[in-house]
Amino acid sequence: MQNLRKDYSKNALLEEYLADDPFIQFQHWFSQAVEEKVLEPNAMILSTRTTEGVDSRTVLLKGVENGQFIFFTNYNSHKGQQLLNDPHCSLLFLWLQEERQVIVRGQVKKLNEAASETYFKTRPRGSQIGAWVSEQSKPIANRGELENRLKVLNERFEEKDVPRPKHWGGFSVFPYEIEFWQGRSNRLHDRILYSKGEKGWTYARLQP
Ligand SMILES: Cc1cc2nc3c(=O)[nH]c(=O)nc-3n(C[C@H](O)[C@H](O)[C@H](O)COP(=O)(O)O)c2cc1C
Repeated sequence: MQNLRKDYSKNALLEEYLADDPFIQFQHWFSQAVEEKVLEPNAMILSTRTTEGVDSRTVLLKGVENGQFIFFTNYNSHKGQQLLNDPHCSLLFLWLQEERQVIVRGQVKKLNEAASETYFKTRPRGSQIGAWVSEQSKPIANRGELENRLKVLNERFEEKDVPRPKHWGGFSVFPYEIEFWQGRSNRLHDRILYSKGEKGWTYARLQP
């Protein structure tokens, strides 16, 4: 492990090419990650606060619009309950092929029901039924029990549209900071931190 050492030299993040709006900068980097065929470029580590400390897991970004980063989950899951108790969170994108990292710090709000409904309708039927099958984050005796539940729910919804369970929907993250990190040579990386103030977004360079 100690011998694993990679020098980063693919790219640079210089002020002269930065967008004033971090969402435009994000879209720019996200498009490049897609073009470069980064595996699951919309996968992000969502960190939340708990009553005891912190928690993290991966979720998929499903939209960036009107100053919000949107993802979907089960509101009764650990993360769902943690966010409903305390909206502070961070999102972390790690695009290793690009030698890039983006960290979003903000607070969540539940996405409105209509938007969750619209997105749920676009999901494959299997995923729609899956949202009913899994009481996400709760223990279950064995795999067989999950498969049995799937069977029961497949029968229940046979030849019917699968409605959205009320406990399943989106969260919008409203950021107050977004940091862009570009790996550079000799560990002298580029870090640009955008912060939201009363007059909108401004940015500053941070030491690596
Ligand atoms: C690549 C990847 C994508 C995932 N996307 C989602 C997602 O969009 N929503 C979700 O609820 N869980 C997603 N998961 C599963 C979560 O990481 C996690 O296991 C689950 O949501 C339960 O988390 P919790 O117990 O902290 O609530 C994903 C996992 C991986 C590895």
